[in-house]
Amino acid sequence: MRFNHGLIERNSVLLLVLSFLTVTIGGIAEIVPLFAVETTIERVKGVRPYTPLELAGRNIYIREGCYLCHSQQIRPFRDEYERYGHYSLAAESMYDHPFQWGSKRTGPDLARVGGRYSHEWHMAHLIAPRSVVPESIMPGYPFLMRRLDVRDIAAHLRTNRAVGVPYDEEMLANARADLEAQANPDADTAGLLKRYPKAVVGNFDGDATMLTEMDALIAYLQMLGTLVRFSDVKPEHLKQ
Ligand code: HEC
Repeated sequence: MRFNHGLIERNSVLLLVLSFLTVTIGGIAEIVPLFAVETTIERVKGVRPYTPLELAGRNIYIREGCYLCHSQQIRPFRDEYERYGHYSLAAESMYDHPFQWGSKRTGPDLARVGGRYSHEWHMAHLIAPRSVVPESIMPGYPFLMRRLDVRDIAAHLRTNRAVGVPYDEEMLANARADLEAQANPDADTAGLLKRYPKAVVGNFDGDATMLTEMDALIAYLQMLGTLVRFSDVKPEHLKQ
């Protein structure tokens, strides 16, 4: 046995060939099973694609670079759990293209900010952060009170479908109507809520006369982290 090993160590070509074989076998053992499973993300009840209005808001979130200061990933540590809530599940960002996990927290994590503040608070905060949080260093976004461009919303849904988000024909056909219904508390939202359970309907920016970028962004913020019900789920490491 010892003799054989010495042979390998002294013969670089043999060492190279055998190393290559070992790595190949290891690689095959790791990669091949992945082709057999449909997805590596565990499905979780409640997770659904974004509504057209949320998706429009998400596009604004990306356009404005909110991810440069805000992460959307709660790590499984006690301090994070106590501050932000249940740690993020892979399934919660499975329809994110691109994902918004972020890599820097100048501001707090936003993965579960949905429902934490009122629409009015968000609006005041986004227009002038220091009007509600005096010590804030976040920039203001007052220009978001301009009209939201809704013309290409169906195309956005279709593009997401091309990369695997399960938007069906009905969702595509109703994209524009669903977008407008979600920002109008007087609209008939039965179809919207059937297609997108738990969608928060409201006049997000308080101005019923115009659908603004602010409406879309707040609709997006208000749904973050709200799709999965954690009230009866406790993280493993906190179970006694
Ligand atoms: C330069 C860094 C920076 C950028 C860019 C930024 N923020 Fe912030 N944000 C902060 C800081 C710092 C705070 C904490 C102080 C405060 O509440 O204003 C914060 C707080 C928040 C909060 C409250 C979170 C909580 O749990 O209290 C929300 C919501 C928010 N930001 C959304 C946004 C959105 C949406 C954008 C993009 C339009 C954005 N931020 C861009 C730095 C930033």
